[in-house]
Amino acid sequence: MCAKCDMTDRQFTPLPERGMSLTLRATLLFALIASLVVSAVGFYLYYSMDKELVRRADYQVSGRVQYFRHLLANEFPLSQLSRNPGLFENMLGNERDILTFRLSGEKPLINVNPSRLELPPVVAVPDGHPLTLNTVHHLTAPDGTPVRFARAAVQIQDGRTVEITGAHFMTEESHLLQTFRWEITGAVLFAYLLIAVLGYLVIRRGLRPLRNMAHEAAQIHPASLSTRLSSENAPQELQQLIYSFNDMLDRLAGGYQRLTQFSADLAHEIRTPVGALMGHCQVALYQPRTVEEYETLLANNMEELERISRMVENILFLARASDARSVLTITTIDVSSEMTRIQEYFEGLAEERGMTLNGKGTGVLYADAMLFQRALSNLVANAVRYGREGSPIELRAEPHARGMDIHVISQGDQVPPEKCAKLFDRFYRADASRSEGGSSSGLGLSIVQAIMALHRGSVSMTSSAQGETCFTLSFPGANHKFPQ
Ligand SMILES: Nc1ncnc2c1ncn2[C@@H]1O[C@H](COP(=O)(O)OP(=O)(O)O)[C@@H](O)[C@H]1O
Ligand SMILES: [Mg+2]
Repeated sequence: MCAKCDMTDRQFTPLPERGMSLTLRATLLFALIASLVVSAVGFYLYYSMDKELVRRADYQVSGRVQYFRHLLANEFPLSQLSRNPGLFENMLGNERDILTFRLSGEKPLINVNPSRLELPPVVAVPDGHPLTLNTVHHLTAPDGTPVRFARAAVQIQDGRTVEITGAHFMTEESHLLQTFRWEITGAVLFAYLLIAVLGYLVIRRGLRPLRNMAHEAAQIHPASLSTRLSSENAPQELQQLIYSFNDMLDRLAGGYQRLTQFSADLAHEIRTPVGALMGHCQVALYQPRTVEEYETLLANNMEELERISRMVENILFLARASDARSVLTITTIDVSSEMTRIQEYFEGLAEERGMTLNGKGTGVLYADAMLFQRALSNLVANAVRYGREGSPIELRAEPHARGMDIHVISQGDQVPPEKCAKLFDRFYRADASRSEGGSSSGLGLSIVQAIMALHRGSVSMTSSAQGETCFTLSFPGANHKFPQ
C-alpha cells in the first residue's frame, strides 16, 4: 500500500446515490401528512356545510307548508288563493320551487311547478300533526339537483281536506358546495406543495451537521489519527455518535501506534541476526577454507537461523493470540502434576547454574493445557536465566474463591520499579547485557501475557529490594465463560 497516495488522495467523495435521500424521504412524508390533515379538515368542513344547507332547506320547506296550512285553517278562502297565483311565486325562494294545493282525490287546484317534476306519492302529514324536519322527504331531480319536499293535509271550513305540497330545489346550495369542493382540493394541493418545499429546505438545513460530520471523518487518515470529530454545535442526536466514533478512533490510534512500534522493533530484532549471518558468510568467502571450517560456519549459521525461526514462530503466535477467533481447548488441569513435569524438564538447566526447583500446592485449574505449559515454562525459563546462581526457585499454587494463582519466585537482582511494567512489552529486556546471548528475544513475557488474556486471566509481577522476583499467573475459576 502506498502511504503517500493514501494520505493525499482521500478527499470527501460523496457516495453514489443509492435509494432515496433522507431529506427527500422526510419531505415527502411530511407533505403527505400535511395534505392528509388538510384534506381531513376540508372533508369535515364540507360535510358540516352540506348538513347545514340541507337543514336550512328543510326548515324553509316545512315552514312554507306550515304557513299555508295555517292560512287555510284560519278562514282564508281557497278561492282567493287560486285567484292570486303570483302571490306564491313571490314567496318561493327559487324559480324552480314547487307549491301545489289539491283537494283530496281531485286534480290540483293550484300547481306551481316550472320544472314539471313529478313528486313521489308520499303520505301527507295528517291535519293536527305538526310538520318537523323528519317529515321532509328527499328526491333527486333528473338533472341531479337534490330536492327537499314536504306534504301536509289541512281541513278547511267546509269540511273538505286540502293537501299542500312544497318542494325546494337545492340548486344554489349545490353550486356553493361544488365551489367549496374545488377550493378544498386547491388548498390541499397548495398545502402539499408549500409544505414539501418548506420541509425540504428545513430538513436540508437540519441535516447539515451530518454532512459536516461526514466531511470531517473523510479527512482522517493514518497520519492524522489524532484528529477527532468536534461535537460543538452538533445536535443532541449526533453527540452520542460522535462520542462513539471518537472513542473508536482512540482505540484505532492506540492499536495503530502499537503496530507501528511492533514493526519497527521487529525490523530491528531481525536485522541483528541477519547482519551476523551475512558477516560470517563474507568473512568465510574472503579466502578458500577447509571443509571443517565450512562445516563450523554452517553450524554457527544454523544456530542463528534457529534463533530467527524461533522468533518468527513467537511473533506468529502473538499475532494469532491477539485474534479473538483463536480457539481454546479448555480442560481441567491438575496443577501439582503439571508443576512436577515442568520441574523435571528444567532440572538439567537449573543444575548447570546450581539452582533448585521446588513445587508447592495442589488443586485444579481450567485452561488450554498446551498454552498453560507454554506460559509456565516461559516464567520458569526466565527464573533459571535471570535468577542468581545457586539460588532456589519456587513454584507455588494457591487456589482461592475466584480461581487459581500460580507463583514463580526467583532470587536475584531487583528489577527497578520503572522497568517492571515494561517487561511485558514485546522485545523488551530489562538488562541488555544479560540478554545478549542466543535465545533471548524479549518476547517471552508478551507471550505469557497474551496467553493469560486469552484465558480472561492476568499476569503480574513484583520485585522486592532483597531481590526476590515473583511472577503470578491468575486463572479464573470453572464457572467463568470462555470466549468461543
Ligand atoms: N525472573 C526474573 N527475574 C529478573 N528479571 C526477569 C525475570 N523474568 C524476566 N525478567 C526480565 O524481563 C525481561 C523480559 O523477559 P522475556 O519477555 O521473557 O524476554 P527474554 O527472556 O527473551 O529476555 C528479561 O529480559 C529480563 O530482564
Ligand atoms: Mg524469556
